[in-house]
Amino acid sequence: MAEAQFRTPKGTHDLLPEDHVFMTYIKKAVRHRARQAGYKRIETPLFENRAIFERGIGAHTDIVEKELFMVSSKHGTDDDSQPEFALRPEFTASICRSYVEHGMQQLPQPVELYAIGPCFRHDRPQKGRYRQFNQFNFEIIGLKDASLDAQLIQVLSRILEDLKILDRLCLQINNIGTAENRGAYVEALKDYFIGKERNLPDLDRKRLETNPLRLLDSKEEDTQILLKSAPTLEQFLNDESKAYHETVLEYLDELGIAYQPNPGLVRGLDYYTQTVFEYWDESTGAQNAVGGGGRYDPLIELLGGSNTPGIGFACGMERTVWQMKQAGIKPPNKDQVDVFVAQLGPEAKKTCLSLISQLRDSGVHTIGALGEASLKSQMRLADKFGVRYTLLLGQMEVKEGVIILRDMAAGKQKQIKFDTAVPAIIKLIGDKNLDTYMLKDHMGEEDG
Ligand code: HAM
Repeated sequence: MAEAQFRTPKGTHDLLPEDHVFMTYIKKAVRHRARQAGYKRIETPLFENRAIFERGIGAHTDIVEKELFMVSSKHGTDDDSQPEFALRPEFTASICRSYVEHGMQQLPQPVELYAIGPCFRHDRPQKGRYRQFNQFNFEIIGLKDASLDAQLIQVLSRILEDLKILDRLCLQINNIGTAENRGAYVEALKDYFIGKERNLPDLDRKRLETNPLRLLDSKEEDTQILLKSAPTLEQFLNDESKAYHETVLEYLDELGIAYQPNPGLVRGLDYYTQTVFEYWDESTGAQNAVGGGGRYDPLIELLGGSNTPGIGFACGMERTVWQMKQAGIKPPNKDQVDVFVAQLGPEAKKTCLSLISQLRDSGVHTIGALGEASLKSQMRLADKFGVRYTLLLGQMEVKEGVIILRDMAAGKQKQIKFDTAVPAIIKLIGDKNLDTYMLKDHMGEEDG
């Protein structure tokens, strides 16, 4: 019996070359906007001590309660004690751990960091919701001012604009007050639901016990109906939070950033205080927010640091790609092959090896058929690769010191001197189109 075919684990996917061009394009936009605004790149481990997420994100959030991928460092033992580590479900807690660990409070404040990479959540896979996905993430740590909130949102807005999807999205914004404001509100919400629990759907009844704020963005109709006469979070905000929110909105107006105030927006992570925001595609709403974030002033202290404010956001790259595809965006693709080198016979093959290498070193994207196939089938292959030019070298040509240059689109070919092949190709392609990437020309441009 044939063995079952191996497949990617549920909720994960291969990033195939045709999608990779989108990812590369997004990373470019992210790096560009990050550099412009003085953010520095940071990378944290893919897994961390699980307590960092439990304490930071909150033990009763969906992310921690249901979605952490645990990692055990003990291989093959019967030890059934709780695993010590978890794959990162997001960056913020890890970046704040790093800020504390490396004494970044000694640096000029605020410290502005960004990260790009995979995150892991053991969620039920569905459209736009994966178990491994990529985020780009920005944080401003160590200083609190409403102008920083507005400037951070502007970076996200600019990136979405660069990617030509901003007009498909709508910025939702709210202020959820201080931890004390929320504490008082949660008590009021619990009181309001006394005697009404039975009318809540199962999941929301549980939420009422573990994380009542999550009721506010419940998708359940019954819950939403009950919430209509419930106390609102807004009523519990202190004057400082209200004034702060007003100022953030004023600054957003000044920067020309469109937004929609949304008093129901609370976000699913416990570390937030005051400003929270999300970019939604209005056709799918909160279900598939492309990106979101907010202020997390208590987080650094929860992770063992001193009282230090912070604000940040993360954007899902798979959801960003989806939006770009919906908008018909085609990122420029530099993978186009310019030249195909076809050859026949052992002498020609040897000569072609150095010809291919010379072309590549000159910045010409070149592939070569170095097998034994006939010239005709090599030409068919060149056609399939969609190359612009083919160079053909047979036994005869080697003897005569010539080579055939074929323009694939025009369907025309001519014989030229072998030694002139590289300059002839360079001339046809044009100096400015040569791919002569040199590391020293790109100091500071990271990979990945
Ligand atoms: P988040 O809202 O949990 O926030 O995630 C941010 C974005 O990551 C979402 O808007 C979504 O695009 C993407 N995302 C989340 N889960 C999945 C999934 N299962 N599959 C695909 N995409 C997903 C955070 O992660 C916070 N750390 C943001 C932040 C940074 N707040 C302050 N600083």
